[in-house]
Amino acid sequence: MCAELREIEAHIDLIYPADLPQLLVIEKESFLAPWTEGMFIGEINNPRSQCLCVRVQCQGKNVIAAYIIFWLGPGEVHLHNLAVKKEFRRQHLATNLLDIMEEIAKKAAIDAITLEVRPSNTAAIELYRKRGFVVKGRRPNYYPETKEDALIMWSYIK
Ligand SMILES: CC(C)(COP(=O)(O)OP(=O)(O)OC[C@H]1O[C@@H](n2cnc3c(N)ncnc32)[C@H](O)[C@@H]1OP(=O)(O)O)[C@@H](O)C(=O)NCCC(=O)NCCS
Repeated sequence: MCAELREIEAHIDLIYPADLPQLLVIEKESFLAPWTEGMFIGEINNPRSQCLCVRVQCQGKNVIAAYIIFWLGPGEVHLHNLAVKKEFRRQHLATNLLDIMEEIAKKAAIDAITLEVRPSNTAAIELYRKRGFVVKGRRPNYYPETKEDALIMWSYIK
């Protein structure tokens, strides 16, 4: 297994259609309502959407360890998807991807970032809170599978 990032090479790259089989596996292990192939293709083909991943070399294989998908503008960045493959969690990959999203927002002169998160997703809420996001609202019954509300979080880039 190659779970220790200190010991392996990692780099940021765009997401390509050939990555879909790996993304779908990470989706299934990460979400109650995983994204479908069509949803990923829609994002890859959407000029507003930024689709980035962390690639690592693991035993000679190109492995996706994490990915982030967000919309750049108008006026704000909207985070649509963020996941880290289970074996690579708690090594600050998500934090690094949020940093990159913030850098891209700054370059585009956008200073506000928003996202929705399940109130039960304490790991993600803690991650976002640490990165300066605060809860500003709630969308009732946002997640149809559980009828959970969504917390709406915002961060303002200095
Ligand atoms: C949430 C998620 C993206 C975090 O990814 P990660 O790379 O493990 O997160 P990081 O290592 O950058 O964590 C940064 C901080 O967030 C908090 N955090 C992360 N995972 C946590 C957990 N399971 N429990 C409590 N706090 C957690 C910690 O404060 C952590 O800092 P520390 O490790 O120094 O204590 C990952 O758990 C995941 O893919 N979950 C399933 C998909 C998901 O929920 N995505 C978000 C949808 S809104």
